[in-house]
Amino acid sequence: MKKIINIVGARPNFMKIAPLMEAYKTCPLIEPLLLHTGQHYDYKMSELFFTELGIKEPDIYLNIGSDTQAKQVARIMTAFEDVCIAQKPDAILVAGDVNSTMACSLVAAKLGIKIIHLEAGLRSFDRSMPEEINRLITDVLANILLTPSADANQNLINEGISPDKIHLVGNIMIDTLFKFLPIAKQSEILNTLQLENTDYMLVTLHRPSNVDERSSLKKILETLHVISSTVQVVFPVHPRTMKNIAAFDLLPFLKGLIVTEPLGYYDFQKLMSGARLVLTDSGGIQEETTALRIPCITLRENTERPVTITLGTNELIGLDMQQLKELTDKAMKGEWKPGTVPELWDGNTASRIVELISAAV
Ligand code: UD1
Repeated sequence: MKKIINIVGARPNFMKIAPLMEAYKTCPLIEPLLLHTGQHYDYKMSELFFTELGIKEPDIYLNIGSDTQAKQVARIMTAFEDVCIAQKPDAILVAGDVNSTMACSLVAAKLGIKIIHLEAGLRSFDRSMPEEINRLITDVLANILLTPSADANQNLINEGISPDKIHLVGNIMIDTLFKFLPIAKQSEILNTLQLENTDYMLVTLHRPSNVDERSSLKKILETLHVISSTVQVVFPVHPRTMKNIAAFDLLPFLKGLIVTEPLGYYDFQKLMSGARLVLTDSGGIQEETTALRIPCITLRENTERPVTITLGTNELIGLDMQQLKELTDKAMKGEWKPGTVPELWDGNTASRIVELISAAV
């Protein structure tokens, strides 16, 4: 039996690890352990997802919490090194691009433990994003690179990574989406929020480039405030964003918006799958809207997920608020590209991965 420590830390990791933990059950050759670094710790950012997605309790919890970039990474590394020395895993599996992903990869590389990176090869080519640094370092260290789309394979090849390490497996988050959508559709969130009708747009914002500077955050909220006079705007607010809205004295702009705390998976998918338009700066939501063929506007200058634009329903607008108003109008009128779903975003990525790694580890 090969022991694999599977790492999660922050909200976007949970929907990626859930189908994999399930698929391991079919493979007697692998002993999977689940480790949660505790990078995200609020009930609504973490535990609720374990419950809804049926993920088992972590075998190991590091209780790291929030801090500056370097301190958070350093604390994860110190704690994870002790775990690796005690557990002696054959491999670790890390997902996505959060600080926990990179921190644990660095530790494993130095101890000579194999690294499997799930969602390898994505590049925004923007090193001002903490996630881009995490992706570059994780991919350069990883032994098995599992990619969601063909562009990711090409990025890795361009960086000189040996093709025999790279495997196109598809998008595992879409496994979770397709599995839980029927349950999510039963959520009562539309009634709870007292929406007048189903013509609404859904907004999420948490990227440092949008929410950590007062001027950018104000610009976005001012525009949403204007849009909310004609369109119902539902806005579940990430803790980082809420902290900054309060600190920058921008709370008055939330008037007219339908504001909630971060939502669980079911409520969020219910809202997303019924929205006329989604406005976001999240990576995962660009992909989920493409899979669901829901119009999506991304408030970023670049994306590490270009297939959501070339094939899917995504449009990138940076901080162009005029374009935001125009595209919102178009989406509300139902004028949007229909989009197609990329290859292998089919709900079967986890079983492909387990088959592959049971032979490779
Ligand atoms: C992290 C990831 C980002 C991912 C996002 C999803 C990195 C570098 N960033 O960003 O890629 O898209 O998660 O949410 O890993 N906080 C709470 N409760 C929590 C967690 C955080 O209140 O459970 C607050 C804290 O004030 C903290 C702030 O949110 O300082 C930011 O949290 P952090 O984990 O540093 O990064 P995110 O912005 O969540």
